[in-house]
Amino acid sequence: MPVITFANTKGGAGKTTAVLLLSTELARRGYRVTILDADPQHWISRWHEISGNIRNISVIDSVTTASLPLHISENKGSTDYFIIDLPGDRNPLLATAIGLSDHVLIPIQGCAMDARGGAQVLELLQCLAERERVHIAHSVVLTRVNSLVTTRALQTIKALLNERQVPVLETAIIERSAFRDIFDCGGTLQSMDPARVSNLDKAQENARAFAEEMMRMLPVRLPASARLTGPLISRAA
Ligand SMILES: Nc1ncnc2c1ncn2[C@@H]1O[C@H](COP(=O)(O)OP(=O)(O)O)[C@@H](O)[C@H]1O
Ligand SMILES: [Mg+2]
Repeated sequence: MPVITFANTKGGAGKTTAVLLLSTELARRGYRVTILDADPQHWISRWHEISGNIRNISVIDSVTTASLPLHISENKGSTDYFIIDLPGDRNPLLATAIGLSDHVLIPIQGCAMDARGGAQVLELLQCLAERERVHIAHSVVLTRVNSLVTTRALQTIKALLNERQVPVLETAIIERSAFRDIFDCGGTLQSMDPARVSNLDKAQENARAFAEEMMRMLPVRLPASARLTGPLISRAA
């Protein structure tokens, strides 16, 4: 059961949004996902509260440095993917979460020049590798990318990061109103009304591509019985 941590010491980079997109898409595909909400702003826990029961998703709120390893060991048997949402500041939780992770995803705003929060995470990973010989797989995911940014411009950013030995996900998370609205209305991209949310189909496709890339990187075999049919939400809030 892979542990994926979203880390960037800067708030607003798109961590929590990416956590939600990946978790709901994995759950839709039949994977059991436990989200560990370590953000003192409790965005994921609040979203979960207003969403009602979402099949395959469990959320553990108020996760601390001390409780994090316990939550993972206690829920190993009933979880396919653990996903950790960290606070948006430099915090002792960062090192603990990274140490427990199979993969660290570093969301960086595609068009913002300020990538310092991401750089701090990369420095910590490098430090672990050099001093402790602990190598933790990681990638940058470009987030909040304007839908008008061309594929070519994105390729240039990716090439620049790759030159510095920073792996970058092929899929960038696009700035979409659906990704904002979901925190207000609860539920998933599939339960939103396409008549009210612009470009919902594109948002869904973006979340699918993101999750597929992560599943290829960290594959988990599902029993045939876990294949999903029917809606994800069994009880409206
Ligand atoms: N891809 C996106 N499309 C639209 N809005 C986004 C996207 N990513 C983040 N946001 C918005 O930007 C703000 C910060 O995002 P959030 O995911 O909470 O970042 P973090 O967890 O890193 O602080 C929120 O208001 C969120 O709704
Ligand atoms: Mg957050």
